[in-house]
Amino acid sequence: MKIVIRPSIPDDLVDIVRIFSQSSYDKREKEIRNAVNANKRGKISILSACMESTVVGAHVLHRPSKTIGKNGVIVVDRECRGHEIGTNLYIAALKVFKAEGRNKVTDSVIGRNPMMVSLLNFLGYTYEGCLRKHTVDGKDILLFAFFLDEYDIPENSAHVELEIPETEYMEEVVK
Ligand SMILES: CC(C)(COP(=O)(O)OP(=O)(O)OC[C@H]1O[C@@H](n2cnc3c(N)ncnc32)[C@H](O)[C@@H]1OP(=O)(O)O)[C@@H](O)C(=O)NCCC(=O)NCCS
Repeated sequence: MKIVIRPSIPDDLVDIVRIFSQSSYDKREKEIRNAVNANKRGKISILSACMESTVVGAHVLHRPSKTIGKNGVIVVDRECRGHEIGTNLYIAALKVFKAEGRNKVTDSVIGRNPMMVSLLNFLGYTYEGCLRKHTVDGKDILLFAFFLDEYDIPENSAHVELEIPETEYMEEVVK
C-alpha cells in the first residue's frame, strides 16, 4: 500500500465528504470547502492521504494564534484504517506548522478515544490536562500538545510519501 500525503485539491472534495460521512464528523462540507480554498492561497488547511488516485484520509489544520497550530478533524476511510495513515497525516501537519515557524501544536481528544491517545503519545505529544464534563453531553476533553521547538518530528513511514510544498504563506506567518 503506497500512500501520498499532500494538500487537498478541489478534485478531492467528493472523496473527503464521503469519508467524513463515515464518522460523526459528517456535517463538515462547508468547512472542507473553505479549507481547500485556503490551500489554493498557500495556507495549507486540509491534507489528503491518497492511494493511487483515491483519497483515503483527510486532516484539517487550524491556527488559533500566530505561534500555535491546532489539529482539526481527521478521518481515515474505514477500509484503510490501521495502516498508519492517520499517524502520517499528523506527521505531515507537524511539518506544515514547523515550516510556518510555529512552536506548539495542540490537540484535544473528546471522550474516550484510546486510539487517538495512543497515536498522540506515539508521536511525542505531551498530556496537558483535562477539561472535565466539558461537552454538551458531559464528556471530558483531554488536552495534548507537541512542542516543535523541543522535539524532533518523527519520521514518516516508509510506505508514505509526504508532498508538502513550500508556500509564500509559510514565509509570511511567523518568520
Ligand atoms: C483515528 C483515525 C484517524 C486513525 O487512523 P488510522 O490510519 O487507522 O491510524 P493509524 O493506522 O495511524 O493507527 C494509529 C495506531 O497505530 C499506532 N501506531 C502508528 N504507527 C505506529 C508505529 N510505527 N509503531 C507503533 N505504533 C504505531 C498508534 O499509536 C495507534 O495505536 P493503536 O492501534 O495501538 O491504538 C481513524 O481511526 C478514524 O478515522 N477514526 C474515526 C474518526 C475519528 O475518531 N477521528 C479522530 C477525532 S477528530
